[in-house]
Formats: sequence, C-alpha cells, structure tokens
Amino acid sequence: MKLPYAEPYKIKMVEPIRPSTREEREKWIKEANYNLFNLTSEQVYVDLLTDSGTGAMSDQQWAAIMTGDESYAGSKSYFNMKKAIEEILGFPLFMPTHQGRAAENVLFSALIKEGDIVPGNSHFDTTKGHIEFRKAKAVDCTIDEAFDTENLHPFKGNVDIKKLEDVFEQNPHDKIPFIIVTITNNTAGGQPVSLENLRAVKAFADSVGKPVLYDSARFAENAYFIKMREASAADLSIKEIVREMFANADMMTMSSKKDAIVNIGGFIACRSKDLWNQISMFNIIYEGYVTYGGMAGRDMNALAVGLDEGTEFEVLNARIKQVEYLGNQLIEYGIPIQKPIGGHAIFVDALKFLPNLPREQYVAQTLAVELYIEAGVRGVEIGTILADRDPETRQDRFPALELVRMAIPRRTYTNNHMDVVATAMKNLWDRRDSITRGFKILEEAQIMRHFTVKLDRV
Ligand code: F0G
Repeated sequence: MKLPYAEPYKIKMVEPIRPSTREEREKWIKEANYNLFNLTSEQVYVDLLTDSGTGAMSDQQWAAIMTGDESYAGSKSYFNMKKAIEEILGFPLFMPTHQGRAAENVLFSALIKEGDIVPGNSHFDTTKGHIEFRKAKAVDCTIDEAFDTENLHPFKGNVDIKKLEDVFEQNPHDKIPFIIVTITNNTAGGQPVSLENLRAVKAFADSVGKPVLYDSARFAENAYFIKMREASAADLSIKEIVREMFANADMMTMSSKKDAIVNIGGFIACRSKDLWNQISMFNIIYEGYVTYGGMAGRDMNALAVGLDEGTEFEVLNARIKQVEYLGNQLIEYGIPIQKPIGGHAIFVDALKFLPNLPREQYVAQTLAVELYIEAGVRGVEIGTILADRDPETRQDRFPALELVRMAIPRRTYTNNHMDVVATAMKNLWDRRDSITRGFKILEEAQIMRHFTVKLDRV
C-alpha cells in the first residue's frame, strides 16, 4: 500500500485554545458590533482571519531570534537579511520596514503623486488605501476569468495585458508611475500569476518605459503554483522559479508575515540606487534608520531564515496541501468556493451561498458572522464592506464577488481543525434558506472601514 502524505515536521510547542458555546458567541459578536475584528482572540476557536503573522516559526528561526543583533546601525541581522534577499530574490538593494503596508507607504511616498493612476491586478486593500490616500487611482486589470469562481483557469491572478494597454492608451503616461503585480493575487482568491504573464507584463512595461513593482507577500506560493501548473517550470526548483519571477520586476514590496513565516516584518527591494536614496528619507521618517526600518534585529534574523526555508518545496507542499484538504471537503459538500483552490485560503462565494440576500445587506459579512456563531471559526469578509465607498460619489462599491475568506495560518492548525471548519460550513449550507437577514452600517471610517465598522442586523 502506498504510504499516505504527512507533514515534513513534528510539533515542539503547543498553545491551548478553547471551544465556546453558541450562546456565548451570540453575545460576544453582538458586543463586537458584528465586526469580527472586534472579537478577542479568546472568543475565537479556529482563527482563520488571516495567514499574516500567525504562522508557526521553525526551530531554526527561533534559534536565529536568539542571535539577533540589536545594534541601531549596521546590525549583523540587517546583513543576514540583505544576503537572503540578494541570493533568493536577486535584488541588490533593500530597506527593512515593519510590515508590508509600511513598505507601501515608504515607496509610494517617493513614487505616487495626486492624480496618478496605478494599474495592476486586484490591488490589495492596504495597497489601494495607500494609493487612494494620495488622491491617486488604482485600476484593476485582472483577467475576467478571476471573477467567475467556477472557471478553472490555472492562473486566475494574471494581468490582462489588453486592459493594461487600454489604461496607457486612455491616460497620459506621465500620470502612471509604475505597474503593480500582486503575487499571488490575494483579493481574487490567492490565485497565482504565471511566469509567462510576468514576462508579458515586463515586456509591455519596457515598451512604455515604466517600472514594474511586485507586491510579493505570497511570492513563494506563487512559485509553487508555477511549478505545478506551468509546463516550462515543472523541472525547476522553487528557488530557481523565484529567481525567474523576480528577474521581471524592478522593485518589490514584501509583507514578510506571510511567505517568510515571521510574526512581523517587511521590506522594499529594488535595483536603482537613485530610488533607494529617495526612499531612505521616507524610511527614516516613518519606519526607522535604514538598517532596521522598524524591525528588531532578532526579527530580521528570523526573516532571513524564513525566506530560505519558505522557498523549499516541502514546506510549501505541506502548506498548500492543507488548504486543499479543507477546500476539497467543501467542494464535496457542494459549497460554492473560488476554484481552483488558491494558495493561502479558501474563498467561499457568498453570492452563490446566499443568493436571495440583497447586496445592500452585506452578503459576505452576513455569512462570516454566521460561521462564527456556528462554530467559533473566524473568517473575514472580502466584499462590499472591504471595497469601501467610491472616493468621489461616496456610494458603496459593489465588487464583482462577495467572498468569505478563510485564511489558513502556516503550520498552526491540524487537519482536525480543518474538519471542524468544513463541518461548520456544511451546517450553514444545510440551513442557508434560514439566513434571510443581513446587516446595516451604524458607523464607519473613510478609508479601510472594515477594521472598525459598527454593524447591526437589519
Ligand atoms: N499585500 C498583500 C497581497 C497582502 O495580502 C497584504 C496583507 C499586504 C500587502 C500588507 O501587508 O499586513 O504586512 O501590512 N495581507 C494580510 C491579509 C493583512 O490578511 O491578507 P501587511
């Protein structure tokens, strides 16, 4: 008999978690104004809010923590991180920041002006936030296939080159500072971008003389999918694919809380010394001196090890297999999810789950709240609340999809936890006709309202 698959690690330390009762959860979520961000972690049993900073570090990463160099300037840990970025990603220059959005803030302070246009593939919400905060506009050029959850396109994160061309045709080129590619494409369902598409974006960018920025939070998962789905890369190692990918980028921002498997950290990397000089001023103002940028030496050390380990096939294989394990159960139950199953999360198609709930009542948020009440599982809405209002009309923007994202932290939960999540979703699916009441907004912030929005049942 063929031996079954098992994870390439064993567990050295555990953190207790506690299930709660339905009555407790109903009370807690009401007190939280039906905003899952307002729950305390103790009120959550299986926390799938995010895979960001919630992964379990390896013994080698913890060992690196103990040898962190906390010198203000010129720390050894900075040079460990520099070496890892140069060797693994191929960028000669970098600047640490405390996380991904900080990298966006620093880089965009140098590159984006009021009235600019930044085309890309489904900009992540902090990316869009940092663009719109500068009174510039993010234009989504993701391929249409991404918005059909049943379409089995292997690279639904791809940029539609035709849409990109249209943006350049319709706008003065001096208003377009760069093109951004998010790998993997989080908002569209953790969907990868192919190597072929990365090359096509770079060729187009070269033809119009614009730099390409990769938002690289889940670049290693992207490389894994390239290996599994793109014939020309099947025999390459993950590290070889990563080098190929980044050879098509001029700069990158990174939230290291994902694929570098650390609890905090980020960076900007680039090839231009001029750009590095420009952003160093902003880094010093916003983050810290250029050799620590808001990170502790110990965290830079752990990040350097994480970049190396996180680009090993076995580590990625175990991670993505667990996401598939959950996704395949949901598919078996007939629950509508974004397919093919993405890298870091399962995205449930809430419009198909609750087709009769009006969109004005925040369909994905309603499903996410029901999931919490059912089993103490915390997912997150990727829908109308996250999409914010249109900055000009102040009307709700209804995105193409209403999704509930269940992001799986790396190496944190077992497949038994995944069984609880799948069963909870199945119970909701069986009683979906009884979910007829959504939510209305009581209070909200101007940008990124999802973090603090207060809701009540309609
Ligand atoms: N870009 C992408 C694609 C992301 O997914 C995130 C964060 C960021 C940038 C910002 O990085 O959080 O370190 O400041 N995504 C998390 C998530 C929050 O849950 O998907 P950050």
